[in-house]
Amino acid sequence: MTTQRHRDGGATIIGWGTALPDRIVTNADFEARLDTTDEWITERTGIRERRHGSTTAALAVEAGRAALDMAGLTGDDIDFVLLATTSPDYQIPSTASQVQEELSVRGGACDINAACSGFVYGLVQAHGLIAMGLQRVLLIGAETLSRVTDQQDRNTAILFGDGAGAVVLEACENDQLLSFDLGSDGSARTLLDAPIGGYIAMNGKEVFRRAVTVMVDSARVSMADAGITSEELALVVPHQANIRIIEAACSRLDITADRVSTVLQETGNTSSASIPLALVRALENGRVAADDLVLLVGFGAGMSWASAVLRWTGRIPEGKS
Ligand code: UT7
Repeated sequence: MTTQRHRDGGATIIGWGTALPDRIVTNADFEARLDTTDEWITERTGIRERRHGSTTAALAVEAGRAALDMAGLTGDDIDFVLLATTSPDYQIPSTASQVQEELSVRGGACDINAACSGFVYGLVQAHGLIAMGLQRVLLIGAETLSRVTDQQDRNTAILFGDGAGAVVLEACENDQLLSFDLGSDGSARTLLDAPIGGYIAMNGKEVFRRAVTVMVDSARVSMADAGITSEELALVVPHQANIRIIEAACSRLDITADRVSTVLQETGNTSSASIPLALVRALENGRVAADDLVLLVGFGAGMSWASAVLRWTGRIPEGKS
């Protein structure tokens, strides 16, 4: 689709969906075959189980279809598919191209690789496309990290999982996105990487240290740009890497645990999929009301970081207003 027009107004989320593979891998499963314990994994990460299986495209299609169904739309109503993923199915072409075909999306499609910050990067790009005149964008975060993790390496195997979360954004008068902060420090990119055809390697301690700092700094930038304080936030949706990172960052931001959405206990770290999975969980549990302020904040390989403040002008689940 081509467009010459710059649109007034903004965009808002009108539907969402998720997908997880059927196979549950528990801490006890790792305990049985690696030099680790359920106690170590739970205490150091908060993770109890994760899902393994499927392909990135299949999970993305399932989550995307659920989001379209909820919005009462078909692929023909969608002008662009943005797929945030760091575990694409192919080197070439984009995984989004398969999603575009399977959902019969009318418009363009491409992948975004900003690792665990990918969904928020995509959210901002979706707003940009809509500002340029598109009507609706399907934004998906989808990963099959179990394929790029050495299942014999206790340092990484216990952490990562597979899954997908999707939202449909539509042009509207009242923009949902109040502010954002996107960043990257490429000089630190070797702290967490996976060569083509290889497995994830990570300096966990250093990533942990930087994660807390960049989440706090980025959240402060976005809150300042939105003209709000952390007290005003109804919900925080952080990247789901480690419960200790989330607790440390939220404590520095004076955000109490009752305002934080977590799913990592059941999903592990699903990189680009983690923020939409945690956002959808909060929405389905009625934790977001009309006009609530919501902070999304993530960090990951690159090292990338991203945060955004939303005023929830979007859809609210039935009976949850
Ligand atoms: O999406 C963004 C990407 N990743 C992250 O955000 C991960 C950030 N980092 C982390 O979450 C944590 O650093 C880890 C969970 C990866 C590790 O926790 P830690 O508290 O930093 O542990 P550590 O790396 O300092 O390791 C402590 C000990 C070491 O043994 P020694 O050297 O003290 O004898 C490790 O070899 O724990 C050992 N260890 C394990 N023990 C049992 C490492 N992995 C395991 C394991 N089970 N799975």
